[in-house]
Amino acid sequence: MTNKKFDVVVIGAGPAGYVAAIRASQLGLSVACIERMHTLGGTCLNIGCIPSKALLHASEEFKHAQKGMNKHGIKIDGVSLDLSSMMAHKDDVVDQLTKGIDMLFKKNDVEHIQGDARIISNQEVEVTATDKEKTIISGANIIIATGSTPADLPGAVIDEKQIVSSTGALRLTKVPEHLVVIGAGYIGLELGSVWGRLGAKVTVVEYLNRITPGMDEEVASQFQRLLKRQKIKFKLGTKVTELETYQEGVKIRLESVSEGKNDEIDADVVLLAIGRIPHTSNLGLDNLGINIDDRGFIKVDDHYKTNVDGIYAIGDVIPGPMLAHKAEEEGVAVAELISGEKSHVNYDAIPSVIYTNPEVASVGKTEEQLKEEGREYKVGSFPFVANGRARAISSTDGFVKILACATTDKVLGVHIIGTDAGTLIAEAVLAIEFGGSAEDIARTCHAHPALNEAIKEAALAVDNRAIHF
Ligand code: FAD
Ligand code: NAI
Repeated sequence: MTNKKFDVVVIGAGPAGYVAAIRASQLGLSVACIERMHTLGGTCLNIGCIPSKALLHASEEFKHAQKGMNKHGIKIDGVSLDLSSMMAHKDDVVDQLTKGIDMLFKKNDVEHIQGDARIISNQEVEVTATDKEKTIISGANIIIATGSTPADLPGAVIDEKQIVSSTGALRLTKVPEHLVVIGAGYIGLELGSVWGRLGAKVTVVEYLNRITPGMDEEVASQFQRLLKRQKIKFKLGTKVTELETYQEGVKIRLESVSEGKNDEIDADVVLLAIGRIPHTSNLGLDNLGINIDDRGFIKVDDHYKTNVDGIYAIGDVIPGPMLAHKAEEEGVAVAELISGEKSHVNYDAIPSVIYTNPEVASVGKTEEQLKEEGREYKVGSFPFVANGRARAISSTDGFVKILACATTDKVLGVHIIGTDAGTLIAEAVLAIEFGGSAEDIARTCHAHPALNEAIKEAALAVDNRAIHF
């Protein structure tokens, strides 16, 4: 058993951990990053953001080649799917990007230690490598960045073939005839869209009476309408009472939440996407007495300190949105705080994006949140159907909605449903970060013809003076 010493030991090499490790090293600290997987990048690069976006893009291209080009005067006959090549491309992207983190670690002198980490004291981590060899790594500071794992549905056994988590849904070897998705959230709608575009019949079962809880309701209902138009079926207000697997498929027994009415459907694949839970098992938290909340998240203060001196936590394992860019911001902040710099994350300016077609993106407050907080606000909306570029590229679905303070005009929330919403939202994030007003956006010259002119117009509409609608 060897013993190595570092200023900072990071557990987990996802976007929270690898970014913290690189930033700490940039600040002159000696850093080790322990990761149990054989590739770096965590959920995001290996089984999350990146492979899902590769498949979302590829499946959209397939759909577009099949049906989307005619109106532009392009005729394509005989479009067919080569699923294994599509998957190979996705795997190749993952491979390149995970190796890229290896290179970044080398460039930044971060020591990469492969193995399973368990914290044994506030300055020591025991690492068990794949060959079972144990090493003790000492760190003046330990950062827990162990991420999250899919939540289970009691009674459902994920075999990653018939009943799959997102991980299995990114690796199916054939297009299911009927995919039943449980949970109308980020994963369910993104991966449901992928397989729907590739030819599966898709039914989404959701416990609540709406999709995407937390999203501005006006946007969510338009989103559902557009997904229905893509033939995705929804069973809202419905709970799953039993999943029974048989050789060719799965029987899903359902019950309506309000009336208790029973129903059943059959699928060849069921995707369980009912949320993710913080990953803290076998980390040694109990022995050290590290506080976790009633949902299993590690409790931290605003400097990411746990209640145990020298131990910090960031990313999906602490409360807040489970998003890669939030995890990265926390990675930078914790490293800077440990090295004695001032740093913080502005949680009011964290965007979220669902990469479906159309994309849905938002930052700041929803209308429902503002009502609940009793705040006076103004609304400005602008539909893409009135945007010249959207018409030119035949992407007229959706709208931009800006919520601004009724007295100061400060931008409080921006919600976009439409093509490229995930990119367009950056302007709104910047406005919120800078404490900008709707008038600031409205007075900013936007290139023409561009989709983001719809943001300028929505900002004008806050003051009832949109030009093009
Ligand atoms: P993780 O990325 O989960 O990394 C934690 C790492 O810690 C893992 O590599 C794990 O192996 C390692 N680890 C855990 N325990 C130990 C231990 N004891 N010893 C050693 N190593 C350990 N977010 C977005 O912002 N945009 C997206 O488009 C997006 N798409 C997603 C799609 C899918 C299908 C999924 C599942 C998630 C997606 N997310 C997306 C969420 C995003 O992946 C997470 O928010 C992000 O990865 C969290 O980063 P993290 O570093 O906190 O944790
Ligand atoms: P989610 O929290 O987004 O959605 C889960 C859905 O399942 C909710 O609508 C919830 O009401 C529903 N649900 C919960 N229990 C249920 C039950 N028993 N029966 C039926 N419905 C039930 O979780 P999801 O989709 O699993 O994603 C996890 C997280 O991963 C997201 O919250 C997000 O943070 C992250 N993610 C982000 C992406 C992005 O940024 N584009 C893409 C994919 C995931």
